[in-house]
Amino acid sequence: MSERLDWTASPAAGPLRGEITVPGDKSISHRAIMLSALAEGTSRIKGFLEGEDTRATARIFGQMGVRIEAPSPGERIVHGVGLRGLRMPKGVLDCGNSGTAIRLLCGVLAGQTFDTTLMGDESLCRRPMRRVTEPLARMGANIEAADAGVPPLHVCGGQRLHGIDYVSPIASAQVKSAVLLAGLYADGETTVTEPRPTRDHTERMLAALGWPTAFGPGRARLSGGHTLHAIDIEVPADFSSAAFFIVAASIVPGSELVLRNVGMNPRRTGLLHVLRAMGANIVEEDRREAGGEPVADLVVRHALLRGIEVPTEHVADMIDEFPALFVAAACAEGVTTIRGAGELRVKESDRIAVMATGLRALGIRIEETPDGAAIEGGTLHGGAVESHGDHRIAMAFAVAGSVADSPITIRDCANVATSFPGFVELANTCGLTVYRT
Ligand code: S3P
Repeated sequence: MSERLDWTASPAAGPLRGEITVPGDKSISHRAIMLSALAEGTSRIKGFLEGEDTRATARIFGQMGVRIEAPSPGERIVHGVGLRGLRMPKGVLDCGNSGTAIRLLCGVLAGQTFDTTLMGDESLCRRPMRRVTEPLARMGANIEAADAGVPPLHVCGGQRLHGIDYVSPIASAQVKSAVLLAGLYADGETTVTEPRPTRDHTERMLAALGWPTAFGPGRARLSGGHTLHAIDIEVPADFSSAAFFIVAASIVPGSELVLRNVGMNPRRTGLLHVLRAMGANIVEEDRREAGGEPVADLVVRHALLRGIEVPTEHVADMIDEFPALFVAAACAEGVTTIRGAGELRVKESDRIAVMATGLRALGIRIEETPDGAAIEGGTLHGGAVESHGDHRIAMAFAVAGSVADSPITIRDCANVATSFPGFVELANTCGLTVYRT
């Protein structure tokens, strides 16, 4: 992103009220494009996230000859080309800010007959890729990275892939998905075992498109040689985007906010367990299934929060929600301790360091550890913080502004468009006061 954009978040004038629907799930939107592109037939996607990350994925498949229509915002019609129907693209494939796009694409592209080059923005070019290139190499793939194991990545086509039994050292849905997607092209069986269960959207969607896939918490298995069949995919609202409003309604006195159609995959909703243990008042209504994923409406009311030790078993299930949790912890009574979350250091920014620096600048006492932090609840003051171009950091501090005693300036917010276009507008409709400066 070349555009520089700052926000000011002012104290909320009153309680948060109303009913909102946040944009479509980012993880599911990426997978919907990828798998429907590789399917036989035409798929219709509804609720597609119109974010920069997911549009980058759609553009990349367009570059490889997949016709994707966008009849209206949030809708895509994907004319699948089948597993072997992608064509050699002209030029490099630009994944922008998206770790999901680049890592999952490594799996798909490892199985093609042609060479490709994947690149991304400054943030993505600092992120570790050996976690995918290493298991893919064991499957017979040939992917060259820069010396530090970061993008750009050159994926050499024409390799014969074979299935592996991969015991992953990292709890990462991106690693698991890359290996499974390469497994579609591999001879024999591919199995992934994880140290902790991670989001299973890839497995669910593969099964929904008719690929025999066996999976359960922490384990997934499939064999090459089948066919994906087009289906209609309904993408639920993104729990990770809802998280900012769940925390905001919990901390602003008098609030009662309804969030509609929120994706409730148990591998995504760890934050609910943790906030409830802190005293939050969050009610799930009308639990149902949409597009093979559980969804519900959430009613969030203000509550007094108290600090807790975050159980490590929830960490992977809320890995994207820590910036929001840091803010909840800053507003809670007592200390919140986070451990086992070292992965936060290799996200779009080092989220432990960036949240700690920002909260400290706003008057909160916080101790950083290599894999977490201890945050002492207190009074949030106004001030200026850096998001380091990280969308979730920017939105977390916008929420912090709602309860600060004077406005917070948040620098470098343009990347919010990667996951949550329209955040500022939606925030203002329900009682937050955020404006671009
Ligand atoms: C994602 C997996 C997670 C998450 C990311 C999206 C996915 O990353 O942080 O925002 O869509 O598979 P890791 O697999 O690196 O944990």
